[in-house]
Amino acid sequence: MYEVTLIPGDGIGPEITESTRQVIEATGINIKWHMVNAGLNVYENTGVLVPNDLYESLSKNKVALKGPITTPIGSGFRSINVMLRKKYDLYANIRPVKYISGIHSPYKNVDLVIFRENTEGLYAGIEEKINDEQYKSIKIITKKASTRIIHSAFKYASDHNKEKVTVVHKANILKLSDGLFLNTAREISKEYPNIKLEEVIVDNMCMQLVINPSRFEVIVTMNLYGDILSDLCAGLVGGLGVVPGANMGDHMAIFEAVHGSAPDIAGKNIANPTALILSGSMMLDYLGEKEKAKSIVNAVNTVIGNGQWITADLGGTATTKEYTNAIIDLIK
Ligand code: NAI
Ligand code: MG
Repeated sequence: MYEVTLIPGDGIGPEITESTRQVIEATGINIKWHMVNAGLNVYENTGVLVPNDLYESLSKNKVALKGPITTPIGSGFRSINVMLRKKYDLYANIRPVKYISGIHSPYKNVDLVIFRENTEGLYAGIEEKINDEQYKSIKIITKKASTRIIHSAFKYASDHNKEKVTVVHKANILKLSDGLFLNTAREISKEYPNIKLEEVIVDNMCMQLVINPSRFEVIVTMNLYGDILSDLCAGLVGGLGVVPGANMGDHMAIFEAVHGSAPDIAGKNIANPTALILSGSMMLDYLGEKEKAKSIVNAVNTVIGNGQWITADLGGTATTKEYTNAIIDLIK
């Protein structure tokens, strides 16, 4: 039996985490879920953003499935997502972007994985007021964090028979910080003679991705660029509703979709749970349950390919629950 922390989150979080839990259980896997919540909902009810139970559960189980958590803009309330990634040193944010047949998109051959550095960069949280008209935010790039994320990307490429890793940077302008990241990629690439290192500047990367995304295989980049490119890449394959993700450290992994809490569609039973369901499949893969993980991917591909039970974001009319049930029926 596995023990997994389940964080429902805010907005559409409770709906899509419930769908995902049901889909995972349909595979027959024996999981004991520890449900603990954090975020805006919890704060409004208890005055605490992250209850101690959450830390205790994460420290004990070391694996979690997480719904999105709202981070209000402005307010003193810092992102719980960023905090958890830093606190548990979940340095690799891994986001596979793969076209699913049946989705309307001009791009049919997208199959890439983004490795986003998850603990520093402009998300280090170092911001300061200089005066009423001047503020500064500091970008931190370290050799240690750059090395481990770039290693993860190359190791993944090597394990999956990929030919190329693309490092995305802006070292022409940010000569020291991005320069360190780029130079680290050049160094590490020497350890992988069979894998080509491609260097692309981030603005050019946006254009290249829109023109011909199928030429990319593994992308490795810093925190902010990775955040932005992830949403861009989601747009290439049907939107945020279909792109999963994992926050991985050496001793813990939290699986969550790329998207946020989607307050505009929350509570309406219309959210697309695919991104979190596929994150759940990544979790089973991580736990060593390869066949069960694959059965989830196969069911998602079949239901979306069939087109009868797809959600509104993909042009369909199915509710979250109808779509979820179609997947569960196939798995069972
Ligand atoms: P968002 O990703 O929540 O939504 C952007 C757009 O995509 C919205 O129109 C939304 O309806 C749509 N969308 C997103 N997921 C969908 C799904 N599964 N099915 C159908 N449509 C979907 O981004 P937004 O609006 O910028 O952020 C909302 C909140 O989420 C903010 O407070 C933000 O801080 C938080 N957030 C949390 C994340 C996390 O917990 N990891 C990640 C990103 C944002
Ligand atoms: Mg994001």
